[in-house]
Order: sequence, then structure tokens, then C-alpha cells
Amino acid sequence: MTRFEEIKQQLIEEPKTWLITGVAGFIGSNLLETLLLLNQKIIGLDNFATGHQHNLDEVQSIVSQEQWQKFSFIEGDIREYKTCQTAVSSVDYVLHQAALGSVPRSIADPIMTNSANITGFLNILTAAKEARVKSFTYAASSSTYGDHPELPKVEENIGNPLSPYAVTKYVNELYASVFAKTYHFKAIGLRYFNVFGKRQDPNGAYAAVIPKWTATMITNDELFINGDGETSRDFCFIENTVQMNILAATAPEEVKDEVYNVAVGDRTTLNNLFSAIKASLVKNEIAVQLEPTYRDFRAGDVRHSQADISKAKNALGYRPEFNISQGIEKAMPWYVEFLNRV
Ligand SMILES: NC(=O)c1ccc[n+]([C@@H]2O[C@H](COP(=O)([O-])OP(=O)(O)OC[C@H]3O[C@@H](n4cnc5c(N)ncnc54)[C@H](O)[C@@H]3O)[C@@H](O)[C@H]2O)c1
Repeated sequence: MTRFEEIKQQLIEEPKTWLITGVAGFIGSNLLETLLLLNQKIIGLDNFATGHQHNLDEVQSIVSQEQWQKFSFIEGDIREYKTCQTAVSSVDYVLHQAALGSVPRSIADPIMTNSANITGFLNILTAAKEARVKSFTYAASSSTYGDHPELPKVEENIGNPLSPYAVTKYVNELYASVFAKTYHFKAIGLRYFNVFGKRQDPNGAYAAVIPKWTATMITNDELFINGDGETSRDFCFIENTVQMNILAATAPEEVKDEVYNVAVGDRTTLNNLFSAIKASLVKNEIAVQLEPTYRDFRAGDVRHSQADISKAKNALGYRPEFNISQGIEKAMPWYVEFLNRV
């Protein structure tokens, strides 16, 4: 039995109360779905900056009525300290996902990204510390590796941030580490590497590559590859990310006050990603004729990214269950359905 299977069993036997910030977003709503299916009690917080009511509605349609009644939603902003205080009162575990993602968004509006990602983070961290929650897990980012050339990326070797977004995620880690030293309040940071899966938003200027390309292929619009297509990423299917959040939240004290890579430990180029999505759509009976148009590299992007996941494996018992191909196979029918629905 894996540690994840053991923990799920324990949670079913002894349900806990969780706060998920950013619950109406991609990762937040997937955490909500899994935890409700495990009969947990959930408080969700979101201001719908980039999240959607339809993500919550979809989770409601998947879980039982009894499970849905265990969910209460606060529409509010993490930049308001009082809202954070209300949200954390009486929870066991915090999974902090709320933030403004996207490197280009942060370059276009660094002040806005800073306020959600740093002020908001500090508010929720402080409120959680004051409320003495059992654990605090937060979404960090692989962007913290910045210009460090090493591959695969090992947690202790980071470079200089390459974007305002990367600065905010690094500052989160600095605050978490200072809170451990100053207040003995230990948090766990999860450095996500390009997460993908159902409910990741395909729309808008700041959409992530997999949903954006999938939508573009279905609508047969022009599809751009930034650079030569040999840029690579460690794409991580959402279910691996959900697993890591649950493992981190329930981790023993001695492995907290740490950051962990959340990925598969593999690397896929954009050119190969293009072919994989195209092939998967064809399997789902969507004929894709389109070929990509190459354009300039994008500012702030790192060239290659691949994680060493041994720290998460050894300390938390992480066992990623899906590689990129398996993840794409699972995600594609959802995208086909979703994009036909809207
Ligand atoms: N998706 C990835 O590949 C990836 C990679 C690295 C890090 N992350 C981090 O993971 C977290 C979740 O990302 P996601 O992909 O689910 O993005 P998302 O945009 O789908 O979800 C973020 C959620 O946070 C909410 N939010 C934003 N600002 C808020 C505020 N001030 N108050 C309350 N709610 C607020 C949004 O409305 C949204 O529902 C973020 O912290 C992001 O930076 C994601």
C-alpha cells in the first residue's frame, strides 16, 4: 500500500476540515473534488479573479448531495486580512492555491500580481499561524529555479528569478522559511511544474499551453509556438498534484518547513507536445489539419525545465501515477466535451 492510499483510508475513517484558497480555479477545484469524494469537510475561498463558478458547479455534479453539503464557499479576497481570518478559523489543514498565475500577466501588471501573490500570501499565512492550524501547504512554482542551468532541478539549487511572477513565488518561500524560524510555524511549499488537466482554463490571453493549444486545434485557429519548439517542460498531470497536496498536508513535523518539486521527472519539448495533443484529439474523433507557426521566444520563459522528484518520493512517499501521455489521454475527452459545451 502506498502512503497516499494509507492517508486516504485514514481520512475517510477520520475526516478533517480543510481550507482551499483559489477553490474555483483549476487546481483548487480538482482538490475540492478529490477531498469531497473522501468525505472531507471543505471551506473554499475565491474571488473569481481567474476562477469560475462553472468549476464549482461541475464538482457539485460529480460528488453526492451529502458530500456537497460538506462544502461551504466564501466569496472573498485574500488581500483582505479579515476574510483570511474568517476562512482559517476552525480548519485543520490549509491548501493555499489562490494567486495570479502566468509569467506574461506579471510582466504586464506586476503590481496586481504582487498584491495577490505576496500580500495575499502573507495574509493567509499569518491568519493560519494565528489560528494554529495543523498544517499549511502552499502552491510554490518551478519558476523559482529562474536562470539556474542545472537539469534536473534539485530543490536547493535555485538561480535568479526571470519574471515578477517568479519573484512573488520566491518571496512566498522566503516568508514561509522566516515563519518557521520566527514563529515555529512550519509550511510546506510545492513547486509545481506545468500542471495540466481538466478544468484548466483554455480561454484568455494568459491560458496555459495545453488547454490553449487544445482549444486552438479544435477551433482550427492559428497556433503559435514561441521559439523553435525545442523549449521543454516537465508537464505534470493534475492527479499527481492533488496527491502531493494531500501527502504534504498530512506530513509529519520533521519534513515540513521544506519545499518539494511536484512533477513527473520527465521532459517534453513543445514540438512533441504539439504532436501528442494532435494525436490524442484524432483519437477523440477530432480531425486536426493545422500546423504550428513559429514566432519569437517569450520574455521571462526558462528554456528547459525538468524536476528531480526524489525529495518528494523519499520524504512524503510521492508516487506520480500519470506520465504526460496518460494525463493527455485522460484530459482530452473533458476538453472536447467542455469546448463543445461553451
Ligand atoms: N497551473 C500550473 O501549472 C501552476 C504552476 C506553478 C504554480 N501554480 C500555482 O498554483 C496555484 C493555482 O493555480 P491554477 O493553475 O489553479 O490557477 P487558476 O487561475 O485556475 O486558480 C487560481 C485561483 O485563485 C483565485 N484568486 C486569485 N487571486 C485571488 C485573490 N486575491 N483572492 C482570492 N482568490 C484569488 C482565482 O480566482 C482562481 O480561482 C497558483 O498559486 C499558481 O501560481 C500553478
